[in-house]
Amino acid sequence: MSATLVADRILVEDLFAGTDRLGSTLADDVLDGLTRPFKELPPKHFYDAVGAELFDRICEQPEYYPTRCERAILERDAAAIVAATDARELVELGSGTAAKTRLLLTAMADREPPWLRYVPLDVTASMVQACAAELTTTFSALEVHGLVGDFEHHLDRVPPPHGGPTGHRVVAFLGGTIGNFPPGSRRRFLRRLAGLLGDEDHLLLGTDLVKDPAILEAAYDDAAGITAAFNRNVLAVINRELDGDFVGDAFDHVAFFDRDHEWIEMRLRARRPQRVRIAALGLDVTFAAGEELRTEISAKFTVDRLAADLAAAGLELREQLTDDDGLFALSLVRRAG
Ligand code: SAH
Ligand code: TRP
Repeated sequence: MSATLVADRILVEDLFAGTDRLGSTLADDVLDGLTRPFKELPPKHFYDAVGAELFDRICEQPEYYPTRCERAILERDAAAIVAATDARELVELGSGTAAKTRLLLTAMADREPPWLRYVPLDVTASMVQACAAELTTTFSALEVHGLVGDFEHHLDRVPPPHGGPTGHRVVAFLGGTIGNFPPGSRRRFLRRLAGLLGDEDHLLLGTDLVKDPAILEAAYDDAAGITAAFNRNVLAVINRELDGDFVGDAFDHVAFFDRDHEWIEMRLRARRPQRVRIAALGLDVTFAAGEELRTEISAKFTVDRLAADLAAAGLELREQLTDDDGLFALSLVRRAG
């Protein structure tokens, strides 16, 4: 069964139903990424239950400013955003715990609209279920239509706008997650995202901004080692799902700002030469001492570059809100007219 009516106002749909969940893409991604001369894995596999928990702790680290800054913008401007967009339906991609989203939903509920709907989409089923239960308890008029799926594959499964094409829909993509796409797929993804928007609808896009590399690098290498543990967690996911024998401690966490590309790169660096068996794939992967596996990029934006990416996707930057220190931006975006 793919759709579960969990309670009166909650519907959770499993878009992976009938497939091998993320498992098949993990196998493809590992086979593809670990047999290249320059090894690489896509970031969506970080977020199993352990990874989701570690990510929550990253957001609390003093060095990781994006969450705090984005929350500060929403605390200051959520009411204005909701007034400007006339939002009654919030679709959120990579919704996670939806911690900051509450600020938007509160501002939406304060206007006492005739209906109110939240459509969270995340790969992690437990997160979608938990936030649906919590938010319907907090907001008595809210309906939640949760989607457990992959925003790279399932955008066409987002339900049509609840109120019809009337311009009440806001699609939120927060946390700077857009920066985790490499530039080419970022534009392709934005173009598909534009397809979710009617002429009067809005995209609310969180992007981290270019700044002093020391601040950036600290944010991705916190002193408590939480980001390092998060980075290594992808090896544990491979061990569990594909019967691998990675030793997490045999890899160092590496995070550096690539000034040419203006992105943070996260890598795992082999401390010594090693051979890893991934039994489910019948695959042996060798690492030379010091060899690196790229696990994520996190692009940092300037207004101009963001505007150019949006324009290439048929979108238009309407307004950009930043925190008081100018570290992080929330952009209101519409389809280009
Ligand atoms: N929006 C939250 C969480 C950001 S972390 C915030 O701003 O704090 C990124 C989130 O996106 C995680 O919850 C992760 O599970 C989810 N995610 C990552 N890749 C995804 C994909 N391909 N499809 C759907 N969700 C994804
Ligand atoms: N989207 C977040 C970002 O790029 C996710 C993130 C934060 C992350 N720290 C990380 C992903 C460390 C992988 C490793 O800021």
